[in-house]
Amino acid sequence: MSQPAKPWVIGNWKMNLDRRAAETLAKEVADDPACGAVIRVGLAPPFPYLERVAEILGHGPVTLLGQDLHSEPRGAYTGSVSGPMLRDMGVTHVLVGHSERRRLHGEDDDMIRRKITAAVKAGLTPVVCVGEDLAQRESQRAMTTITAQVEAALPADGWPGQGEILVAYEPVWAIGTGHVAGREQVAEIHAGIRRLLPGHARILYGGSVDPDNAASLAREEEIDGLLVGSASLSAASFLAIVRATTQA
Ligand code: 13P
Repeated sequence: MSQPAKPWVIGNWKMNLDRRAAETLAKEVADDPACGAVIRVGLAPPFPYLERVAEILGHGPVTLLGQDLHSEPRGAYTGSVSGPMLRDMGVTHVLVGHSERRRLHGEDDDMIRRKITAAVKAGLTPVVCVGEDLAQRESQRAMTTITAQVEAALPADGWPGQGEILVAYEPVWAIGTGHVAGREQVAEIHAGIRRLLPGHARILYGGSVDPDNAASLAREEEIDGLLVGSASLSAASFLAIVRATTQA
């Protein structure tokens, strides 16, 4: 019988920390025996710290992610970073379509689909982020919004074979607000997303995850992992989330 897939806990550092703090945090995560044993732990540092974090993680079990990538592999795109460059740095997974990219950098569904295709071409696994805003939730349009986002994200030629498919459901109103979504709300959306994707898709939740709510979220069968923002910036709170997920 195949082993049940390990839950994920991914820390998205966003545009935070300095080099020294990034090194210290990466070391503490890399040295913690809970990371990798029963949980797949990932870190998404800012681009300038990727190489150093990659060295610290070495060949250990912690996964290295990019926070974004350009849709083209190379060219005159000042300030951008491509999929092949991320691969070069030892990155294996990349966030695509985070709501901060959609909202603050004007990324639309078409751009996100091109980035997903670029990631797959570069040999990276995209972690596709979707989520409704407060107005959409309050007008009962959460699932329609997310369905449209997932369908728009699907590469034209379908998801490649048995490749890993990771989606992160991050309701915009829950990100950085302290308003974590309820387990049942999350379960309903995850079940809806699962119906749109091949059977082996894994669906993570993100939005105000902290050491106090992680265990309850992780116990929900529909939740295959957690994507953590602010609480991933200190080893104490991030590792507490890893442990809570381990014990759930
Ligand atoms: P917070 O955990 O700070 O709400 O951020 C969530 C997030 O955006 C992770 O990608």
